[in-house]
This record gives sequence, structure tokens and C-alpha cells, in this order.
Amino acid sequence: MNESAFDHYFKHIDDVEGWLSKTTAILSNRLMRHQSTGGLVGPICEIGIHHGKYFIALASELRRDEQAIAIDLFENQEENIDHSGMGDRHMFEGNVTKFLNPACVITLHANSTRLSPGAISKYGKIRFFSIDGGHTEAITANDLRLAERTIATGGIVALDDILHPSWTGVISGYVRYKREGGTLRPFALVPNKLFLTDGSSVASYRSFMRSEFPHLTDQQDREFIGDMVDVFRELLPARPRWTSRFKTKVRKRVKKIKRLMRH
Ligand SMILES: C[S@@+](CC[C@H](N)C(=O)[O-])C[C@H]1O[C@@H](n2cnc3c(N)ncnc32)[C@H](O)[C@@H]1O
Repeated sequence: MNESAFDHYFKHIDDVEGWLSKTTAILSNRLMRHQSTGGLVGPICEIGIHHGKYFIALASELRRDEQAIAIDLFENQEENIDHSGMGDRHMFEGNVTKFLNPACVITLHANSTRLSPGAISKYGKIRFFSIDGGHTEAITANDLRLAERTIATGGIVALDDILHPSWTGVISGYVRYKREGGTLRPFALVPNKLFLTDGSSVASYRSFMRSEFPHLTDQQDREFIGDMVDVFRELLPARPRWTSRFKTKVRKRVKKIKRLMRH
């Protein structure tokens, strides 16, 4: 049997620097497969790319005729007001070339607070939207509104770092978004991300997750800022981040030495 693009990427996921629980990568992938089975077609989109770790996990499940939209400040890091990660276009494009068909990737070098919904929705209604850009209250609320206005019916939004103790702007932004009338509703809290969808799709995603991953959820119907969510726990141990940074450094040195030896 042929290895899928996601399975291939998953084998090498530790080689890409970034922030992603492997359990969450798998859960996101299974949700995307479920969308495809149900006939939902459309692009994926991420705000906040860094080197593309989660973006590639999502994009590797797309069909040939679907696109992936990558939004980041990249070299405009002076606009990264809370220093959440550091987009690097060169590293991102290298990883895209390794793991995806680059032709399916649309890169928007932009500050999400200055993007209109139309700049995203012109590529089609989004079926999976990851929010992992600026982590302040105002940026999080802005990015949630962008996602709400651009997703398809049945589209999923993944909000990163919702309960991270160092990034309190994210939960503050989520509360602000809800208070201001946001219509996205959460259905699952997974390692480091909150999954949301439109009101009419919550029940079906909740029942899919319960039936597909019963071993990962022993906490169902937990209160979450005015809604109920199921909580899914970590399945796979994370590799400490320093090991992937160390590997990247060694690889860069080896490349440099090889280059010097050629001259
Ligand atoms: C935490 S990192 C993203 C991690 C990434 N999702 C991963 O899978 O590893 C945050 C990223 O958001 C970008 N960023 C920060 N503020 C932004 C903004 N206002 N608009 C667009 N991108 C932003 C940063 O350049 C950085 O690459």
C-alpha cells in the first residue's frame, strides 16, 4: 500500500522546527480525512507559519486540486509585537519543497491585522483554518473573526496556545471575540489547541471525535467559557525542542562545511 503524504511527513516531523503535539497532528489529520469523506472540499489556511510544522501537517492531507494558504510576517519581524515565534520564509520554502507540491501553496506575506476576509476567501471557502500568529488579545480576536468569515460550513478552526500559561493574550482574545458576538463554537480541547466550528457542525464533530478516539477522552462535556467541550489528552511523548534545534544546527554546519570543501 502506498504511503500517504501525511504518513511520510509524520515520520520526519521532528526535523521541522516548530510547536506541535504529535497527537494534535494526528487528530487534525483524521478530522481532515473525515471532511473529505463527507465531501467537503476547499483550501486550508494558517496564520503564523514559523517554519511550517503544522501547516505541512494540514496541507499534506489535501487533494491535488486543493490549495494551502500560508500567512506570516516572515522577514517583517519588527511587526511581531509579542515575539511569538519567528517566521522564516527560506526555511518554510525549503520544508514545503521537501514535503509538499509547492504549486499548491499560496504564500501571503502579510500582517493578519491588515488582511480583509476577501484576501483569503478569494481562494475558496476554507475547510481547516489554523490560528497561530500574534498571541495578543487584539490579534487573537482579529484572527478568529477572519477565520469565522472565511470558513466553509463544516470548516474547522484550530486556535493554538489557548491554555498556555505564558500566552494569556490568547484566552483573553477568545473571550473578547465571544463577547463581541463571535459565532464559532468549540467542540474539542486537544493538546495545545482548541478546535472550533460553526454552530450547525458542532454536534457531528463531537460525535465523530468521541467514536474515533474513545481512548483519548475521559473528560467529556467540560465547561469552557459558556460552551461544553470534550478534552482529549496527549498520546505520544513530545521530543524535547532542543533536540530538533540541535539537529537543525548540526545540519547547517554540515552544509557549510560541504560548501567550503567544494571551493
Ligand atoms: C508560534 S509561531 C507559529 C508556529 C507554527 N504554527 C508551527 O507550526 O510551528 C508564530 C508565527 O506567527 C507570525 N506572526 C506573528 N504576528 C503575526 C501577525 N500579526 N500576522 C501574521 N503573522 C504573525 C510569526 O512570524 C511566527 O512565525
